[in-house]
Amino acid sequence: MRVGKYRAYSSTANLGPGFDVLGIALQAFYDEAEIRVSMNGVGRVKVRYIGPYSDQVSSFAGNCVAKRAALTLLGKYRSDVDVDIVIWKGVPPGKGLGSSGASAALIVHALDDMLGLGLKGEEKVLLAGEGEVASAGTPHYDNVAASLLGGLAIVSKSKTGIKVWSTKVSATFVVAVPDVRTHHSKTKLMRSLAPGEVPLNVYVENSSYLATLLAGLLTGDLKLAGYGMSNDVIVTKARSPHVPCYTEALEAAMKAGAYGFTLSGAGPSTIALVDERNARAVAKALEKAYSSCGVKAQVMITQVAGRPERLD
Ligand code: HSE
Repeated sequence: MRVGKYRAYSSTANLGPGFDVLGIALQAFYDEAEIRVSMNGVGRVKVRYIGPYSDQVSSFAGNCVAKRAALTLLGKYRSDVDVDIVIWKGVPPGKGLGSSGASAALIVHALDDMLGLGLKGEEKVLLAGEGEVASAGTPHYDNVAASLLGGLAIVSKSKTGIKVWSTKVSATFVVAVPDVRTHHSKTKLMRSLAPGEVPLNVYVENSSYLATLLAGLLTGDLKLAGYGMSNDVIVTKARSPHVPCYTEALEAAMKAGAYGFTLSGAGPSTIALVDERNARAVAKALEKAYSSCGVKAQVMITQVAGRPERLD
């Protein structure tokens, strides 16, 4: 019997114009798992959730992601072992913070490590992303890539396969997590709001925002990054009218000096990119804005997280 304990972090996907392409791991929340691997098994997987958000896992379509990822991994590489997994669920589900992605990334990372498989980043992202179909209707790999690889993750998916790339970035964010009820298929619903096609001029405009966002993040020019992040004229534009208090929060954060502001993943959480010295002022402004809208929200200052960690 092998026993291991691991932690993987929450993430924010898209960052405005990077729909399904960009994710950043965030220290704000994390999941932990204790995993027992029994040799001489038959590829059986048991998953149990404990911790602050364990009771909410079953209310969301993504609740089976960790089990699905584990079953796929064992089916492919080690159907001769059984695994028992207890997940301490610390990433709130249904908030746009990569909750299902964090659990799937955690399990794939842990099993790869405990079984000594030496899987490549691409393979791990594909295995963990498999489960996202359950929560979003279609696979998207941005959250799992960020939670698995840490830092800023870029995913490129084409007919010929997937490429992933990640790098450390230094940035401070203020995340607001509204206490609103979300539908169990929230991500799927929010994805259905995105236009199926866009005119060439809109594509060009959005590409310029994505380019400035990346240039800013990679060179540490956070003002430039914030400009790109705030200006998504495709997906965020279509989704934001359906997000409680979005406009008020955007105005408050920018007025308080945030570099950029957007929806976190498919929402309803929002995220502001800030100067570390100004983080408290932006957090206060967001608290005030949500409270004036009559929406309770948890507002947190957070930094970029790394890849999953082994705890013992
Ligand atoms: N890229 C995905 C979306 C992330 O925006 O639908 C979901 O968390």
